[in-house]
Amino acid sequence: MQLFESCGKEAALEITSLSEHTGAEVRGIDLGQPVSEAAQTALNRAFVEHSVLVIRDQRLAPPQVLAAVSLFGTVFQQHNTRFALPDCPQIHYLSNQDHFPDGRRYIPGEGWHTDHSNDTRPPKATALHAVKLPDKGGDTQFANMAAAYSTLPQATQERLAGLLAIHVYQSSHSTRKLMALSDANKERVPNAVLHPMVRTHPDNGRKSIYINPIRIEGILGLDHKEALPLLAELLEHATAERFQYRHAWQPGDLVIWDNRCLLHKANGDYDLDQTRYLYRVMLQGDVPR
Ligand SMILES: [Fe+2]
Repeated sequence: MQLFESCGKEAALEITSLSEHTGAEVRGIDLGQPVSEAAQTALNRAFVEHSVLVIRDQRLAPPQVLAAVSLFGTVFQQHNTRFALPDCPQIHYLSNQDHFPDGRRYIPGEGWHTDHSNDTRPPKATALHAVKLPDKGGDTQFANMAAAYSTLPQATQERLAGLLAIHVYQSSHSTRKLMALSDANKERVPNAVLHPMVRTHPDNGRKSIYINPIRIEGILGLDHKEALPLLAELLEHATAERFQYRHAWQPGDLVIWDNRCLLHKANGDYDLDQTRYLYRVMLQGDVPR
């Protein structure tokens, strides 16, 4: 499907679906220039409809990235400030050139997850702008949790209704380990929060599975023997290929996605001697309901 949104004197926005359920490519806009209200409205409408926007051919310095992403909402303060850009701390970086204290390489974003779900109001969106990419590989995969929910058996939907998951910074069940928080960061990041396992999108009313293998420690009222197999079963269902859009990065891409209805993951499947470096901005979200 291709849509052309006329925005006054600006060139028409060209919005093209990237899969049946998730993702649209956006052309015909330079986010380094002032953006009209009409274009901002069209972009926000497309974001809610497609869940992932791939805005091509942008060349944005950090302050321009902030301005561009702010077209979609209010900037969220990310949790681990060790990744903040010194001159523009609301932007964090993702880099494959960082290492854990024990010397192992840190590949940010590996393993299915939704960002910062251990916050009482997790970010509604995350945006990445490619600064340096490997020649090939390093795709970001997205899985559509609304599509996954709608295809669950009714009995499973009924079982999930009312269940609350316990989200922490680092789940003891996760195989992916995160960089530790500094003491100052620990003070402002909640120890644990409860979120419903099914949430309703505030802008389109669609229900989504809301799970996060990296952050969920358990399910309130269920022992692990019951909770862990349920979480595993949901993850397997929800990340089936039919619910996925896989994004192959191009130089100049600015990608923004909806954390309320997607899981995502990075891939470390490329020559790690090649630098992969992106800017990351998140946007304030609501309390999941
Ligand atoms: Fe992420």
